[in-house]
Amino acid sequence: MTYKRSIIITGGAGFIGNHVVRLFVNKYPEYKIINLDKLTYAGNLANLKDIEDKPNYRFVKKDICDFEGVYKLMQDEHVDGIIHLAAESHVDRSIKDPFTFAQTNVMGTLSLLQAAKLYWETLPEKWEGKRFYHISTDEVYGALELTHPQGIEPPFSTKASSGEHHLAYGDKFFTEDLKYQPHSPYSAAKASSDHFVRAFHDTYGMPTVVTNCSNNYGPYQFPEKLIPLFINNIRHRKPLPVYGKGENVRDWLYVVDHARAIDLIFHEGKVAETYNIGGFNEWKNIDLIKVLINTVDRLLGRPEGADMDLITYVTDRAGHDMRYAIDSTKLQKELGWEPSLQFEEGIEKTVRWYLDNQEWMDNVTSGDYQKYYEDMYKNR
Ligand code: NAD
Ligand code: TYD
Repeated sequence: MTYKRSIIITGGAGFIGNHVVRLFVNKYPEYKIINLDKLTYAGNLANLKDIEDKPNYRFVKKDICDFEGVYKLMQDEHVDGIIHLAAESHVDRSIKDPFTFAQTNVMGTLSLLQAAKLYWETLPEKWEGKRFYHISTDEVYGALELTHPQGIEPPFSTKASSGEHHLAYGDKFFTEDLKYQPHSPYSAAKASSDHFVRAFHDTYGMPTVVTNCSNNYGPYQFPEKLIPLFINNIRHRKPLPVYGKGENVRDWLYVVDHARAIDLIFHEGKVAETYNIGGFNEWKNIDLIKVLINTVDRLLGRPEGADMDLITYVTDRAGHDMRYAIDSTKLQKELGWEPSLQFEEGIEKTVRWYLDNQEWMDNVTSGDYQKYYEDMYKNR
């Protein structure tokens, strides 16, 4: 069959990537979707079990740093779009091992850009109908101050954050025109990759787009990140290591809403633009952790709040950014995106998913998930 489009999604076996792959494979049967993933510790093909046999889906195990391999794949599959999510993504790991972050996030992005440029330049129509979409993070903007520790009425209101908790903890927000001020090796590497993407537009005319999203939560997140780690620990009554005083603020978005934004921006975002993605949904870590404890306890039939004593304050993360808060007005006004879920609904769904999918969690925490790919191909 000839497909209308042929799109590589990098990092499709990871947390956000699997939701993007699923959305595209199901929504666009006329597109060929190629999931290019190295399957690091963070990649798990079991995340895509429900779509792995669809005719318009192909998985390719490959490192984005393999320039020649990526170039050949683009040629073989006549690729006209790239949605680039593959990255090392955990701040704590970047503090211990910054080289891997520079290698994957910077050199890997450059290798993809160069492969796309060289391949697309050989075609008669060149850039026409092409798109290189780079997924980045709000962490490149640095940290905002906590000027209102008790919270203030925010200047924005959205469906997703209109719940009871909707407060802002400062009067400044990340807007697209802010200067980059990354602090962690993770965000420094992501910032560098964003600059390379823009440089490929400005220098060669590549049709690029960049988005910077706030913290995501939802099913299939690797349990080194706050929300899945803590849900699993509460379930097993293990200590909850809260960094510092638990006062840092993060702005949380349900992962499927991020995937919906990616779909919209891939198709309708303006070339060379940057869009911030977020649901105006700030939470102090400690308040969020209390919601997690209450929700897990309630869903497990324990007295609500019974597990508050699991909270354990530990040494703060080095260079811990105080507050992230995205202003996504541009995306909402120009492209009409808005989040679909209120936070209370999203958290309930997420906790339920992790509790219902204990096998997935056990496979990940035991390391067994890494055998899934080998077994899958052995049996074919
Ligand atoms: P993740 O760590 O869950 O998944 C990363 C995926 O990339 C994994 O499947 C891994 O195997 C793959 N990968 C890593 N190195 C690779 C390489 N060299 N070649 C090919 N594949 C490789 O990450 P995530 O949380 O899903 O984040 C995806 C993207 O979204 C990242 O670029 C991240 O910076 C960005 N982002 C994440 C968040 C968040 O809250 N998680 C928020 C904003 C932006
Ligand atoms: P994380 O999920 O690692 O995302 P990010 O660092 O990209 O924001 O952490 C979210 C917040 O939770 C962050 O302020 C660090 C804090 N945190 C803890 O307090 N304890 C933990 O064990 C983890 C993993 C994170």
